[in-house]
Amino acid sequence: MTLDLGQELKDDFPILSHKVRGVSDLVYLDSAATSQKPKVVIAAESNFYTSTNATVHRSGHELGELASAAYEAARENIARFVGIEPGNLIFTKNATEGINLVAYAVLNATLLAKSGDKRYNKLAIGAEDSIVITEMEHHANIVPWQHLAQVTGARLEYLKVDESGRLDIDESKFSKSTKIVAITHQSNVLGSVTDVAKIVRFANKVGAMVVLDACQSVPHFNVDFKLLGVSAAAWSGHKMLGPTGVGCLYLNDELLGELPPFLLGGNMIENVTYESSTFRSDNAKFEAGTMNIAQVVGLSAAVDYLKNVGMNVIHEHVRELTGAALKGMLSMPGIRILGPTDLTDREGLVSFEVDGVHPHDVSQFLDSKGVAVRAGHHCAWPLHRKLGAVASSRASFYLYNTKEDVDVFLAALDQIRDYFKVA
Ligand code: ALA
Repeated sequence: MTLDLGQELKDDFPILSHKVRGVSDLVYLDSAATSQKPKVVIAAESNFYTSTNATVHRSGHELGELASAAYEAARENIARFVGIEPGNLIFTKNATEGINLVAYAVLNATLLAKSGDKRYNKLAIGAEDSIVITEMEHHANIVPWQHLAQVTGARLEYLKVDESGRLDIDESKFSKSTKIVAITHQSNVLGSVTDVAKIVRFANKVGAMVVLDACQSVPHFNVDFKLLGVSAAAWSGHKMLGPTGVGCLYLNDELLGELPPFLLGGNMIENVTYESSTFRSDNAKFEAGTMNIAQVVGLSAAVDYLKNVGMNVIHEHVRELTGAALKGMLSMPGIRILGPTDLTDREGLVSFEVDGVHPHDVSQFLDSKGVAVRAGHHCAWPLHRKLGAVASSRASFYLYNTKEDVDVFLAALDQIRDYFKVA
């Protein structure tokens, strides 16, 4: 039984004792947007500033050495957590930056190839090529590819979401012209989980790279990017108990070597003269300027915390809470769930509409009972349009939530239609 887990862990998260509007106990059901932080993460970041702070890989003094060692130890810890080598991990600001990095690096490769640099011919993309994404992406995994398609003339194609809210992995969308396949591991609206192995199989047959948006998966279950066989994966630290301002990008050896840099400046260079520059060939090529060092150290503490609780335990706990929420919501009149209504290939969040009540009113009513959910299109506007929803409300669960949190949420939800007199 993992249902006591949230109760056991609650004291580790100081913010969970917050009284909403000075009155209600906080029931935080917005972890898909950002997770709360345990004391150890807050302390790790703060301790870095009080005892170790210096810039990394530049300064020869003791603090510089200590900071560099802490930064690289964090890289090792975070990389192992997702089954990759530290050398394949690049720190970014967030997942959005990671996805943009890949898209802009491909654009740079295209421009360099056009200017005659043959090293980039393989990565260059043009009017004869296609980029395949899916109908269930959030904006961070749509807009950069739309832009790349627009400026290079490449075709943007979409894998469809079926009636049940799961991805229809239609092999006919994969062809010799497919250069990039960019998919979410787990939808932030539907909760459905992508069969990444199948995508990789189809992509490998046509020689396309697979870019995985792992924002919602890495915080929730064991993920091994090497085993999955993706070419790149991006995720954010703040959704997995880490600080804001730090994200991660995995690039496999091929992309790490072949992609040109995205941001240019200090640390990523090999040699600079007044006339020209050459760049590092390792992951430093993508870490220009002073990095988010304290946040990286904080993220490593978050990884330790997650490992200590156990990803399988967290996964099972969140599934139980999601199952209880789904069951309660399905038994209520006037609730429409977006996405699968059972737990097969779907995880830790439930987006929904309340018949006759705008999602913003739903979230305000829930807030008045202390329940924090997200309302809006969750940065997935095209998906909401496809589903015929202006917006939705979303309850998302994490390791510190309890069965009682779900009960409070369900009881409040049950009052909404009466309150707004639409029952
Ligand atoms: N971070 C956004 C969310 O809340 C996309 O799902």
